[in-house]
Amino acid sequence: MALVKIKDNLKGMEDQATAIIVCDKNLKIQYINPSAEILFELSHGNALNEHIELFFEDIDFFKEALTQAKKKQSSYREHEYFIKTKQNKTICVSFTITPIEQNEFDFIVEFIQMDQQLRVAKEERMFIQQQANSELLRNLAHEIRNPLGGLRGAAQLLESELKEKSLKEYTQIVINEADRLQNLMNKLLTPHQLPVYKKTNIHEVLERVRSLVLSEFPDNLELIRDYDISLPEFIGDREKLIQAVLNIARNGVQAMSHNNTKEKMNLQFITRAESQIVFHKKKHTTAIRLDIIDNGPGIKNELLDKIFYPLVSGKETGSGLGLSLAQNFITQHNGMIDCSSESGQTKFSIILPIENNLKINGVVK
Ligand SMILES: Nc1ncnc2c1ncn2[C@@H]1O[C@H](COP(=O)(O)OP(=O)(O)OP(=O)(O)O)[C@@H](O)[C@H]1O
Ligand SMILES: [Mg+2]
Repeated sequence: MALVKIKDNLKGMEDQATAIIVCDKNLKIQYINPSAEILFELSHGNALNEHIELFFEDIDFFKEALTQAKKKQSSYREHEYFIKTKQNKTICVSFTITPIEQNEFDFIVEFIQMDQQLRVAKEERMFIQQQANSELLRNLAHEIRNPLGGLRGAAQLLESELKEKSLKEYTQIVINEADRLQNLMNKLLTPHQLPVYKKTNIHEVLERVRSLVLSEFPDNLELIRDYDISLPEFIGDREKLIQAVLNIARNGVQAMSHNNTKEKMNLQFITRAESQIVFHKKKHTTAIRLDIIDNGPGIKNELLDKIFYPLVSGKETGSGLGLSLAQNFITQHNGMIDCSSESGQTKFSIILPIENNLKINGVVK
């Protein structure tokens, strides 16, 4: 990081997703940004004028790295380094030391937590793959839709010409299967309809899903709501969000109802506020977190990594589109979905940034 007028740039560091520490010649901390405060669970006030030893127990190693960086007049980078925080938590980081020539300041250290780095890389891969998949499927769906209409029409004509009733059974199969495929094609093409953005309340979305799920599965289902009603409204496409949550909730209930145990089916909707959360390479100051939890049998291990891909299903009659659509809709809101599952508890978490750059009556920026 080439920082000449470091003091002017301190303000710019406030919003950085990476943790940044600035020190003077005596290795005393002069500034830490909010991301560093979160990462090290340490306030700026408490860090001020502390020795860098606070983070680098092996201070000789650190001094050597700093000397190297100064000698080469470039950044020194270490990819895997363990730091013990004041709360005795060990975190794995990659860090960069950059010398700066200023009276007051001497060098900057930037930290990225390793699991965060891995997660960002994984997210990016998934995002690219998801876009490629969805493009391919959309083209395929377009190609299949037209001849399918022709096939169905021809089967209907044939049926009207058939004298023998028993033969109509076959034309009916053609018609029914064509309808099923048509349905699937329609679902594949839905995510590409333009979203309609309005001021949206997450709890209205959840209440709608709740009534739909309860009317679909009225028996033996307990739906627990744990809402943080202070959550603000945000700009979103209400219908798409309902569809996304419904797809997840429906999967949960379907899984629980196939559970052989006599346990009561229990589905939970939990909403909370999240702050300073990093994903899609951006730090979001405030976001809504929605957890949808079921007490079903859990997702099979071999499926867990693939459930968000289209056409992946663990069910005999499933089309494998529910979660892929849900992910598409949440991505349109610049949000993300995550899943963790074990026998007896499956949790889908949706994170929706409150400031998401979406505009009423507009499209994604
Ligand atoms: N809560 C859950 N518990 C157990 N398995 C789940 C859960 N959610 C998803 N799955 C697994 O993930 C697979 C993919 O889900 P997805 O909703 O994408 O497709 P589907 O339910 O099979 O079909 P569709 O939703 O299109 O009718 C499911 O078939 C199921 O095996
Ligand atoms: Mg489903």
